Amino acid sequence: MDVLLVGSGGREHAIAWKLKESKKLGKLYIAPGNPGTAQLGQNVDIDVNDIEQLVDFAKSKSIDLVVVGPEDPLAGGLVDAVEAAGIMAFGPSAEAAQLEADKAFAKHLMRSCSVSTAEGQVFDNYYDAKAYIASRDEAVVIKAAGLAKGKGVFVCDDPANGILAAERIMRNNEFGAAGDKIVVEDKLIGEEASILAFVDGRNIYVMESSQDHKPIGDGDTGPNTGGMGAYSPAPVVTDKLMSLINRQILVPIVDGLNRNDTPYKGVLYAGVMITAGGPRVLEFNVRFGDPETQPILMRLKSDLLEVMVAVCKGKLDEVQLNWDPKPAVCVVMSSGGYPGDYEKGKQITGIEQAEQIDGVKVFHAGTAMKDGKLVTNGGRVLGVTAVGNTVEEAKSNAYLAVEKINFEGAYYRHDIADKAIKR
Ligand code: AMP
Ligand code: GLY
Repeated sequence: MDVLLVGSGGREHAIAWKLKESKKLGKLYIAPGNPGTAQLGQNVDIDVNDIEQLVDFAKSKSIDLVVVGPEDPLAGGLVDAVEAAGIMAFGPSAEAAQLEADKAFAKHLMRSCSVSTAEGQVFDNYYDAKAYIASRDEAVVIKAAGLAKGKGVFVCDDPANGILAAERIMRNNEFGAAGDKIVVEDKLIGEEASILAFVDGRNIYVMESSQDHKPIGDGDTGPNTGGMGAYSPAPVVTDKLMSLINRQILVPIVDGLNRNDTPYKGVLYAGVMITAGGPRVLEFNVRFGDPETQPILMRLKSDLLEVMVAVCKGKLDEVQLNWDPKPAVCVVMSSGGYPGDYEKGKQITGIEQAEQIDGVKVFHAGTAMKDGKLVTNGGRVLGVTAVGNTVEEAKSNAYLAVEKINFEGAYYRHDIADKAIKR
């Protein structure tokens, strides 16, 4: 089976690495891929949002399955276009992808399905938003409604900062058209978890839990990023909570999308806050999380290609998901300055030495080859991932590996997985 994987992040390197283990895999192409995926298949220089070229390429190579990693091409209709060309595609339709691409749509759907989430209001006018925020006297969360690479959410301790965030999004247009609408919601208190599930339109297979680390700084300080590290499983998600999340969040949303005539297929990701009153949804994503995918796929023992095909064919009930009980921890190494401005082109060394450590795999994200050398090429550069017998061991292996890797300005958090260790 020949596969075209779309994307170039750490998530896509992890997906490519896992697909490569499948006996059913024929040729693997990655568009545009990164130097990590180049070691597993053939990178193809097509932008993830160039739907026409991607479809033409898939047709020209008689691709059997297109796997879409990132949210932008999903929201842009890549899956619809690939399927219209008679090719299987792993991921939701553009309409179903609105669940991530439009936080106002997601809020509305959650309300109509009685799924627990923060109380919130949607605004498309700055002055109305400002008046509403000013009328409140507690912490508020301000979110650009559209896609903003994980950076369009501001958790504000008081209304004054909330107004500043609304101004950045709606008046300074820091996120472009993604900020034409905002969602203003209550701040939820608790510990977060990422719950990813395979969905084939009807059947839902929940994967092992994980936890992301969104803020840039140790102790969850500073601005939000795409994610600075993750581990799996997340002990905050007990079996009882997992079954609640399945019954009270995933099932109603998948049903709700079916009722809307926009059936869901692919990976459905619920970002949840485990509050004193139970799990509540922070956001939905319509794809594998990055960096959650790196530790999750390190632990998946089943054939990912088989599972993806089953999702596309509506036959998820015919496959099994088996997991390695050993925990995995992923530490993201980023360019100094990220999530703000940063420089590119810094030479990266030490990956081979890092991978000699037991249970360690280094996934590429923002890397490039330049004059035969591996250099930095993005904000999040590498996802250094390790499994261990315990979460302490996985963490210690991951950080030993991080210490072997060097590039100018390299930055990483020091406390990935500490919440799990403290439990
Ligand atoms: P989102 O992209 O909507 O998941 O938001 C990014 C991050 O902002 C989340 O992972 C949380 O850390 C934080 N966040 C979002 N919404 C809320 C909320 N209502 N209460 C507290 N924190 C939130
Ligand atoms: N790690 C969060 C995300 O993938 O959106």
